[in-house]
Amino acid sequence: MINENYLKLKESYLFSTIAKKVGDYSKTYPEKRITRLGIGDVTRPLAPVVVEAIGKAVLEMGKAETFRGYGEEQGYLFLRKAICEYYAKRSVMLNEDEVFISDGAKSDLGNILDIFSAANTVQIPDPVYPVYVDTNIMAGRSITYINGNIENNFLPMPDRKNKADIIYLCSPNNPTGSLYSKEELKAWVDYALENDAVILFDSAYEIFVRNENYPRSIFEIEGAVECAIEFCSFSKTAGFTGTRCGYTIIPKKLKRNSIALNGMWLRRQTTKFNGVPYIVQRGAEAVFTDAGQVQIKEAIDYYLENANIIANTLTELGIWYTGGKNSPYIWMKCPKNMLSWDFFDQLLEKTGVVGTPGAGFGNMGEGFFRLSAFGSKENVLYGMEKFREYGGTL
Ligand code: MLT
Repeated sequence: MINENYLKLKESYLFSTIAKKVGDYSKTYPEKRITRLGIGDVTRPLAPVVVEAIGKAVLEMGKAETFRGYGEEQGYLFLRKAICEYYAKRSVMLNEDEVFISDGAKSDLGNILDIFSAANTVQIPDPVYPVYVDTNIMAGRSITYINGNIENNFLPMPDRKNKADIIYLCSPNNPTGSLYSKEELKAWVDYALENDAVILFDSAYEIFVRNENYPRSIFEIEGAVECAIEFCSFSKTAGFTGTRCGYTIIPKKLKRNSIALNGMWLRRQTTKFNGVPYIVQRGAEAVFTDAGQVQIKEAIDYYLENANIIANTLTELGIWYTGGKNSPYIWMKCPKNMLSWDFFDQLLEKTGVVGTPGAGFGNMGEGFFRLSAFGSKENVLYGMEKFREYGGTL
């Protein structure tokens, strides 16, 4: 017997569908320039301190005295310690045994469902990063959606009539770039505590928050240690999309049915996962050094400037958008009330610019479009020039 839940999924994962469309386009028009503002894949290289640390670790692996085999179960202590120190700077006090190193937030966001009952009800904002929805469909869980729209600036708040066991939140948000305030996250934490629910908080884009008044971790909110798990990664923070490293925080105080979820996750990970390479964890550790922090800031500044260029172009063209300030994503309304995929096809056909159709992130994303600021500045400038020309033809 196969897992028939897979038959309920869309035929391919959103970004695979887009890659196929773009591949077909470049085969048909090999001479045309393609400007990729679609998938949130980074383009700035690894920071020099990271490269140096990885290089050093490679040499260690080549000598019998410093060679390492299987690593520590939850990830090397040096990296978990560095993560705890990073959180402590914002007064979030964690223990090293509350941090688990993984190969990225995407894997953990999917795998975490192993420790929850299939009978749980899941509440997912719409539009949303498709991994949350697809992994729950695969597991046969029933999903209720909470709608994001222009009126709530794509930041849905708890609906007290609607009970859920598992709640997904992502801030700064993928795909909309919106950002929850402390008060708004407090309302979510209160709601989760009232309902014995667990919040799965995706903070993959926290490094983009420049406004100090906004939270970068759910654990900045009182009570969250009793109802939340946080997922983060080095992908967007330090350009690790191809290097692979992330972390998940499960506070010891988080219990359901008197059982600590931290222990359950440890049991799950030690059974199904053998850890992230030592050399990669040494690279990740270097991100938290003073030099590392300065160097990654340069890359984040670069992407934020791209986001600003995109946002200014949309303002100039009179197009509604949100995001782009404390986030690398800009979420715009499709011109002339076009459907997302129609806009995607037309934009690609006429300009070679690739974005992500809002409908790919859920029903509430229909009529919207996501632009990513992770491209090169040259590409962003070129793409926006094409956008202006295209705007004139509408
Ligand atoms: C995106 O474009 O939404 C991200 O790159 C997806 C991811 O981080 O897996």
